[in-house]
Amino acid sequence: MVRHFLKIADLSPDEILSLVKNARANKGELSTRLAHKCLGMIFAKPSTRTRASFTAGVYQLGGHVMFISEREMQLGRGETIEDTARVLSGYLDGVVIRTYRQDDVEKFASAAEVPVINGLTDERHPCQALSDLMTMSEQADDLAKTKVVYLGDGNNVAVSLMNGCASVGAAITVCTPEDLAPPQWAVREAEALAAVSGSRVSVTSDPQTAVEGADFVYTDVWFSMGQQKNSEKRRQLDPYRIDGALLAKARPDAKVMHCLPAHRGEEIAAEVMDGPQSIVFAQAENRLYAQKELLKFLLADGQR
Ligand code: CP
Ligand code: NVA
Repeated sequence: MVRHFLKIADLSPDEILSLVKNARANKGELSTRLAHKCLGMIFAKPSTRTRASFTAGVYQLGGHVMFISEREMQLGRGETIEDTARVLSGYLDGVVIRTYRQDDVEKFASAAEVPVINGLTDERHPCQALSDLMTMSEQADDLAKTKVVYLGDGNNVAVSLMNGCASVGAAITVCTPEDLAPPQWAVREAEALAAVSGSRVSVTSDPQTAVEGADFVYTDVWFSMGQQKNSEKRRQLDPYRIDGALLAKARPDAKVMHCLPAHRGEEIAAEVMDGPQSIVFAQAENRLYAQKELLKFLLADGQR
């Protein structure tokens, strides 16, 4: 059966932990595991890290990538997602999709005969969460003993981070203004994963108490791709900015994470982003290593 990675729950906790472990061990791998394989990358939104890290990762494993901007496809002229998926399955060995609607990625995967990877939708960013777990595990060997606090907008990154932490047993607090909280379905999903792993999931709105005892303090942009900027949302989110004073309430050795791109002075103060507790660039680099393992797991012959 073809496996896809459309959301965190598509991998079992053991599979996630094993990918994380292998990603740490195989960082420098240059091999031919994906020789003669071609990964399609269909993007409807901009990307720096996701596009570049998948491209570099596939090359390091001996394969090829085909980048396709969604607006250059026949999709815009009425060809269905399902027909597109069936046709591309005949040429490609896997597809990464970055688009707006999660439903569209699910539709594509339901008709695809090759693995489909979610490279970000409005609802989820599972590749980010997978590599974030790797980054956290480099700092704290037992993820089940860590406390992660996400501050800001309850967006796609928050949803996948919440699910990733809940899956492997890390305690996760998502702290947002009440009307920017992650959707209820996402909280229920994380709670279901936490019931199995023994993790704790909480959703709160007070940043000052949320960060107490945090090992990791995480944020993301206040305006995601496709969202209109507005001053009311900015005003609401102002108390959730990670600055020196807020960070001082976390553990003294707490690490600061951000999926990037960042807006210094908005969701994160410049001195925090560039300060000694920030691990954002190691975090970005780990996208490459985690995704190489994901690609081998989903695409390479004889892997599973
Ligand atoms: N973090 C992340 O997915 O970055 P890009 O939008 O640059 O791919
Ligand atoms: N929440 C952000 C993440 C970018 C990687 C967005 O969707 O734009």
